Amino acid sequence: MDITLRDFEEDDAHYEALAQIDTEVYPDHPVTAASLRYDDRSFDRSKCLLKRHMAWVQDGTPAGYVAYHHMESRYHPQRLWLWAAVRPAFQGRGIGTALYEHAMAQLSELGARWLHTSTREMMPDTLRYLRTRGFVEVLRSWESHLDVQGFDSTPFAAYAPRMEQEGIRFTTVAEERGTRGDWLERIFELHTTLMADVPSTTPYTVPSMDTFVRHAVENPEALLDGYFIAVQGDRYVGESALFASQAQPGSLYQGLTAVRRDYRGRGIAMALKLQTIDYAKLHGYRLIKTWNATVNEGMLAINDRLGFVRQPAWVEFEKTLSAG
Ligand SMILES: CC(C)(COP(=O)(O)OP(=O)(O)OC[C@H]1O[C@@H](n2cnc3c(N)ncnc32)[C@H](O)[C@@H]1OP(=O)(O)O)[C@@H](O)C(=O)NCCC(=O)NCCS
Repeated sequence: MDITLRDFEEDDAHYEALAQIDTEVYPDHPVTAASLRYDDRSFDRSKCLLKRHMAWVQDGTPAGYVAYHHMESRYHPQRLWLWAAVRPAFQGRGIGTALYEHAMAQLSELGARWLHTSTREMMPDTLRYLRTRGFVEVLRSWESHLDVQGFDSTPFAAYAPRMEQEGIRFTTVAEERGTRGDWLERIFELHTTLMADVPSTTPYTVPSMDTFVRHAVENPEALLDGYFIAVQGDRYVGESALFASQAQPGSLYQGLTAVRRDYRGRGIAMALKLQTIDYAKLHGYRLIKTWNATVNEGMLAINDRLGFVRQPAWVEFEKTLSAG
């Protein structure tokens, strides 16, 4: 098959092709061209590189792509994330290998030392593909789903009085934004402090405030009235944020849930999650999707108790490249 590799261009046709490829490869994680474009526009290019190369059939049909980029909040100049996807109808014809080799040549010129990528545990061909190319598993994360409308809050009735006793109240980013001038500095400080405690294979690096705003506040998928904050006195002590999937109306995905270290073990995370589920129910959502590292005992214990059902895990891989 006659295939041409060309650099990705940031126009409608390329974003539509990208969304089509991603959605065919991960059909239970559809994406829209609009959300991909938004993510690209939000990406911090002052510090991070983002490159894509597309594989086209001669008649103009998109067959696959490879992408690599620095990680905004796990930044190291020589550490990049790699994605490659070939549409199922075009797999098994060497297109993935051509894309991969093209990317590896560029990455070597850039002086990359570590590559990360991920796939799902029920995709044995992809797992084998990565392992034979020197990628080593470094982390597994469960994807878990909650059936929102079937959720029964009765067994959790003790959390509200417990929060009152602890002097914890709940607010949202939407509410804070309307009532206090320093809301952004405060939520940014909370979020970036808490993110450092999320299990990860590489250290958290604090993104710019602009990056945070684009991802968590201005993002068309962000729900500011579904971004809950636990407050004690005047101090923000925990958060749990929801995002609405544009590609799957009715589905929410969970952003960070976390509590300051000195406030853990008091039921605050559970109470925050109960707020998010109430919100989802009230607004008619069907499903909340969340992702937790298999080593994150605390978050998994909470999600299990709430009735989140585990799905096939995502497997993160790392490959160390030889120094140039
Ligand atoms: C995970 C985390 C949010 C839990 O916060 P928390 O406020 O301490 O949790 P809670 O006190 O609400 O715990 C509620 C219940 O979960 C269970 N639980 C919490 N942490 C647990 C742990 N480490 N091991 C086992 N069970 C745990 C307990 O059964 C607890 O029950 P109780 O309410 O009857 O006491 C917190 O440890 C954290 O901020 N971690 C870092 C950020 C992070 O990794 N977030 C998740 C990203 S995917």
